[in-house]
Amino acid sequence: MLDGRAAIITGAGRGIGRGFAIAMAREGASVVVASRTPSTVEEVTGVIRGEGGRASPFVCDVGERDQLKALADAAVKAFGTVDILVNNAQGFGTPDNPVGTMPHSPVETITFEEMEYTHRTGFYATLWLMQYCFPHMKAQGRGRIINIGSRSGQRGNEFVACYNSNKEAIRGLSRTAAREWARYGITVNVINPLLESNSLETLRHRSPETAQRIADRIATLPMGRYGDPIEDGAPLAVFLASDASRYVSGQTIMLDGSDYTYA
Ligand SMILES: NC(=O)c1ccc[n+]([C@@H]2O[C@H](COP(=O)([O-])OP(=O)(O)OC[C@H]3O[C@@H](n4cnc5c(N)ncnc54)[C@H](OP(=O)(O)O)[C@@H]3O)[C@@H](O)[C@H]2O)c1
Repeated sequence: MLDGRAAIITGAGRGIGRGFAIAMAREGASVVVASRTPSTVEEVTGVIRGEGGRASPFVCDVGERDQLKALADAAVKAFGTVDILVNNAQGFGTPDNPVGTMPHSPVETITFEEMEYTHRTGFYATLWLMQYCFPHMKAQGRGRIINIGSRSGQRGNEFVACYNSNKEAIRGLSRTAAREWARYGITVNVINPLLESNSLETLRHRSPETAQRIADRIATLPMGRYGDPIEDGAPLAVFLASDASRYVSGQTIMLDGSDYTYA
């Protein structure tokens, strides 16, 4: 479905981004695998190449604007253009103390540093990379942008307001860009996932109580499990990245095994 297409996927070293990268490459896309940790970027690139696919590694921090410009430039250099952009990476914590998942942070004690870092690595990174890819997509009259939101933002889960406000800002940006860029053949959609990933694994290790809470939660899920990034998550991403989705834009799609009543 994606033969000849060039894709950038941020946060592709682990979890959802890794799954989307491998699946899109299997569909014929050339993928720029972008993330912070060199070893995971190389691992995913190696998996794709080992299967006969095309991948180019790019180590970057999405919170650094100049690195996003370099990422877009590197994709064009490697594969000639950018057809598909998946804004998936998300930082948590503060610039001095970045962490792997959402810290417990009540509204009344949120610091500027945490709010700024969360938005810089999420909302602003998404905006900047969309801007850097836009000229290439506009010139060719075709583009597919998939931004990753969160059900937590829609629901307003307690004690993670930095994350929630950031993810809802991404949804507002996406709906607006979808309308502004529709005339150029560019679609912009949001996936709100519930998929097994390293961030969930990190949460499980936080404490026995957290692990138990997650186990209890899984037991209440309609399908009784979290989705697998490749088997359950990637088919939607491949569709949204393909020509077949040309009339679908500005949407938020719940990729959560019908657990949508939670959101
Ligand atoms: N899993 C779910 O069910 C779920 C639910 C709702 C929303 N989401 C969203 O889905 C996206 C992916 O989450 P995930 O669960 O797959 O997380 P994950 O397993 O922790 O993977 C996150 C990826 O992003 C990279 N990353 C983090 N900060 C980065 C930065 N500043 N610059 C570049 N890369 C960075 C990480 O690698 P390095 O640390 O090596 O850079 C990693 O490859 C996130 O936007 C998350 O908010 C996930």
